[in-house]
Amino acid sequence: MSMKLGCRQVLVISSANVVKEIMKSHDVVFSGRPSLVSLQKLSYNGLDIAFSSYNDLWREMRKVSTLHLFSLKQAQSFRPVRENEVSKMIKKIAKDASMSRITNLSEMMMMLTSNIICSVALGKSIGYEGFEYRRFFDLFNDVQGILTGFFVSDYFPLFGWIDKISGMNAKLEKIFRELDAFYEEVIREHLDSNRPKSMEGDILDLVLGLTRDGLSSITLTMDHIKALLMNIIVGGTDAIAAVVVWAMTVLLKNPTIMKKVQAEIRQLGKKDLISENEISNLPYLRAVVKETLRLYPPAPLLVPRETLAKCTINGYEIEPKTLVHINAWAIGRDPEFWEKPNEFLPQRFLESDIDIRGHDPAVIPFGIGRRGCPGTVMGMAATELALANLLHTFDWELPPGMKEEDIDFDVLPG
Ligand code: HEM
Repeated sequence: MSMKLGCRQVLVISSANVVKEIMKSHDVVFSGRPSLVSLQKLSYNGLDIAFSSYNDLWREMRKVSTLHLFSLKQAQSFRPVRENEVSKMIKKIAKDASMSRITNLSEMMMMLTSNIICSVALGKSIGYEGFEYRRFFDLFNDVQGILTGFFVSDYFPLFGWIDKISGMNAKLEKIFRELDAFYEEVIREHLDSNRPKSMEGDILDLVLGLTRDGLSSITLTMDHIKALLMNIIVGGTDAIAAVVVWAMTVLLKNPTIMKKVQAEIRQLGKKDLISENEISNLPYLRAVVKETLRLYPPAPLLVPRETLAKCTINGYEIEPKTLVHINAWAIGRDPEFWEKPNEFLPQRFLESDIDIRGHDPAVIPFGIGRRGCPGTVMGMAATELALANLLHTFDWELPPGMKEEDIDFDVLPG
């Protein structure tokens, strides 16, 4: 579907066949990112990877971060951090359960992923309550909200004054200032010669080393570093939490599948923690995660794209600078590619080797092509580990009085 709103043409892609054509013939043309108000502001005018235009800076940032921050080796080196944080979460839930307290899983998962990302990226755990945790949690919740918020000027550039009157500009400015102060603080802590040992080799430490050790051909300024931190914190925290919460929700709705996946995991025996090494022995659990990502991609419209040149798709001419939303949610349910597309059937991923990391046009939770997600390994590792342990240790049920048909599958922005 395509429409012209004011000065900007907008294209929404909801068919896997169109994605296939883009992947095959137009990947570069679709590799731009639009200059949207909130993305620009929070990325220090595109000095990051995720919201930067398709240019030399992006190429270099993407290259060095793929090599030094997101490599398989690097992702594996953070394994003890993930296991330690998942173990703490399991103990916290066990304590709540022993006192017959209800677990709010969405909140618990945001706590877990905030702690994993803070430990991996900033070398510190922020705990599950208290000032450090609350500050981080509230701040990045606001960031998610503003990144998906509606700015009139993004679609009707001549009506930017409405964003002033509605208070959106002021809200963005406030969040930006708080974020900037947060980054300043963690960077200062890392540059302090008396910093704790846990900060050695964390992602911020590696980022600071890119320029110091001559690993990057561009000199990264403080603004580049802050913008990169934003990508890592925002990219990691919310998406991983969302996948686990969706998986648990859909399993509660499908108790037979819940029992089957628990039986697989519990075959490993009674233990305090299922480790990441053991996940490869759990094909059905991995299929459950993939099927969840197909039906409930945490970024249903991916991250917006912008076309870099004119091109023709399915006989339609697409103008340069068209704003493109790729509807991963609809594509994962495309009836041309999927049998019983709306049913939760993890089995389908056991019977085929469909790749969900951006190589198959019909399931694209991590995006596609050169702008696809570089954090796939870290994201999948944390998701599978958290889900395996939640299902191994506890039996789950809905809150008293709630039935399977009462489960709310509606989504909210952010
Ligand atoms: C389950 C977890 C995750 C999901 C589902 C996810 C999903 C996505 C999606 C849909 C995009 C946009 C891709 C496109 O435009 O085609 C993206 C981009 C990105 N993600 Fe992730 N992500 C996850 C985890 C992570 C993690 C853990 C990190 C970093 C530590 C990360 C860093 C990034 C970055 C930097 C980009 C921008 C890439 C670019 O524009 O070149 N993501 N991710």
